[in-house]
Amino acid sequence: MHSAGYLGAIAALLLMLGCGEAQTPQKVAERKAPSEAVQPGSASAAEAPAVAGVPAATMQRGKQIYESYCKTCHQANGQGIPGVYPPVAKADYLQNKQQTIHALVFGLSGPITVNGKKYNGVMPPAPYNDEDIAAVLTYVYNSFGNPGGIVTAEEVAAVRKAGK
Ligand code: HEC
Repeated sequence: MHSAGYLGAIAALLLMLGCGEAQTPQKVAERKAPSEAVQPGSASAAEAPAVAGVPAATMQRGKQIYESYCKTCHQANGQGIPGVYPPVAKADYLQNKQQTIHALVFGLSGPITVNGKKYNGVMPPAPYNDEDIAAVLTYVYNSFGNPGGIVTAEEVAAVRKAGK
C-alpha cells in the first residue's frame, strides 16, 4: 500500500514533467523573438564575442573578470538584482565614463539612481590593476546591449592618479 502510493506519486510527477517538456519548445520559440535575442555577453559561451575595433584578448580578459567577480552581484545577464545591485546592462550610469571608472577604482557607496531606480549599496573597489579594469569595463561597454566604446588603461590610471 505504501509503495502503491509512492508509485502513484512518481507517475503523477512523470506526467507533470512530461507536460512541462511538451510546453518547453513553444516557450523557447516565444522567447527567441528579436527583442529577446541573445545579447553578447549574456550567453554562457566560453568565447567572448568579437567586437569590431576591440582587441579579442581585451574582450576575453574582460569577460573572464566579469564572470569570476562582477557577476556575483551584477548577475550573468548584467541586470543586477532589483533594489540591491544596479544593472550594468543598458545602464545610463555608464554614459559618464569618468564616473564609471571612478566607481570601479575607488568603489561606490551611498545613494545613486540607475535607469530611474534608486540604490543605496556598497561596491568595494575592484581588486584589479588599471589594465584589467580597462578590460572589464570595455567588455561591459560592449556587452549586455550596451552601445560600445573602449576604456584604456591610461584612462583608468588618470582617474586613479586624480584620487578620490
Ligand atoms: C559585492 C557586489 C559587487 C561586485 C562584486 C561588483 N559590484 Fe558593481 N556595484 C555594486 C553595488 C552595490 C553598486 C551600487 C553602489 C551604490 O548604491 O552606491 C554597484 C555599482 C556599479 C556601477 C554603477 C552603477 C551601474 O550599475 O551602472 C557599475 C558600472 C558597476 N557597479 C560595475 C561593476 C563591475 C564592472 C564589476 C566587476 C569588476 C562590479 N561592478 C563588481 C555591487 C558590486
